[in-house]
Amino acid sequence: MQERLLELQQEALQKATEATELKELNDIRVAYLGKKGPITEVLRGMGKLSAEERPKIGALANDVRAAIASKIEEKQHAFETAAVNAQLASEKIDVTLPGRPVNKGNQHPLTRIVEDIEDLFIGMGYTVAEGPEVESDYYNFEALNLPKSHPARDMQDSFYITDEILMRTHTSPVQARTMEMHKGIGPVKIICPGKVYRRDNDDATHSHQFMQIEGLVIDENISMSDLKGTLEVFAKKVFGQDREIRLRPSFFPFTEPSVEIDISCKICSGKGCSVCKHTGWIEVLGGGMVHPNVLEMAGFDSKTYSGFAFGIGVERIAMLKYGVDDIRHFYTNDLRFLKQFHTHESE
Ligand code: DAH
Repeated sequence: MQERLLELQQEALQKATEATELKELNDIRVAYLGKKGPITEVLRGMGKLSAEERPKIGALANDVRAAIASKIEEKQHAFETAAVNAQLASEKIDVTLPGRPVNKGNQHPLTRIVEDIEDLFIGMGYTVAEGPEVESDYYNFEALNLPKSHPARDMQDSFYITDEILMRTHTSPVQARTMEMHKGIGPVKIICPGKVYRRDNDDATHSHQFMQIEGLVIDENISMSDLKGTLEVFAKKVFGQDREIRLRPSFFPFTEPSVEIDISCKICSGKGCSVCKHTGWIEVLGGGMVHPNVLEMAGFDSKTYSGFAFGIGVERIAMLKYGVDDIRHFYTNDLRFLKQFHTHESE
C-alpha cells in the first residue's frame, strides 16, 4: 500500500511537472485527489490493515495528497505569472519612442482677414449680415440704382444664370436686402463678408471669384465724416497705427458722393516706391454716402435718414498686408503658400 501511494505520488508529480496548461492541472487534480481517484481507492483498503499500520498509511496518504496539491498549486501559480507577464509584454509601451507629429492646420489667410475685420466691426456695434451668392438682377443692380439700361452695368461683366438671376458681382445687394428688412426704420449697422463673381480672366490681379466685405450704416445725421472716421479705424487696425487715409472723389451708382479710399504706403511711409507706384498712397476700397434713390427703393425716407456704405476687396487687403503678388495663390491650395500663415498675429 505504501508503495502504491508513493508510486501514485511519483506519477502525479511527473504529470504535473509536464503539464503545459491550466486545464491539464485541473484534470490531474480531479484524477488524483478526487473522490473517485486512486488515492481514495487505496485508502478504501485500509480496513484490512493492522492497527499500527493504519495511522502510518493514513499519514502517508495525507502527505502524498499534500505533495500533489502543493505541486499543482505551484505549477498553477507559475502559469498565472506567465500569463500576466505575457500580457504585460504585449501591452508594453515604449515611453522613450518619440511621439507622432500632429499636423496642425491653420486658417486660410482670407478667413483670417475676414475674421479680424469682423471682430473690429462687431466691436463698433455692427452685426454680420449674409445674403445669397445666386442673386436676382433686382438686388444686384436695380435696387442699387443701376437700372437695366444703366451704362455702369458694363463695369461688371457677370455670370448670368437666367436673364433675371446671376452670380452676385458684389456684396452690395446685401445692403438692399438688409434695408428692406428694416422696413424704413433705422439704425442699420452691418458688415457682410462673402464671395462674389465676375467674368474676368484670371491673372495676377483678377479672379473670377473673390471676396468682399460690404459695410452699411443708416441712421439720422450720418455724414461723410462718420465714414472717414470709421475707415480710419479700419485702416489702422489692419495695416498699423501709423497709417493714414485719404478720400478721393469717385463714382458708384449707389453712393453720392462716392469716394475711393487710399492708405499711406506702409513700405515707403509715403515717400514713394514701386508698390504705391511712387504716389505714397495705395487704393484699398470704395465707399460713399448711400444714394437717396437706394434709400427710397428700400423703404427708407431719405429726408430723415442718411447713411454711408463701403466695399472692401478682401484679397487686395490680404495681398497688401502679407506682400502677396498674385491673387491666384489664394485659390490654388498650395500648402507651401498656405502654411506660411500658421500663427495668429494681432495688431
Ligand atoms: N460694390 C462695389 C464694387 O464691387 C464696391 C463698393 C463701392 C461698395 C462703394 C459700396 C460702396 O458699398 O459704397 O466695386
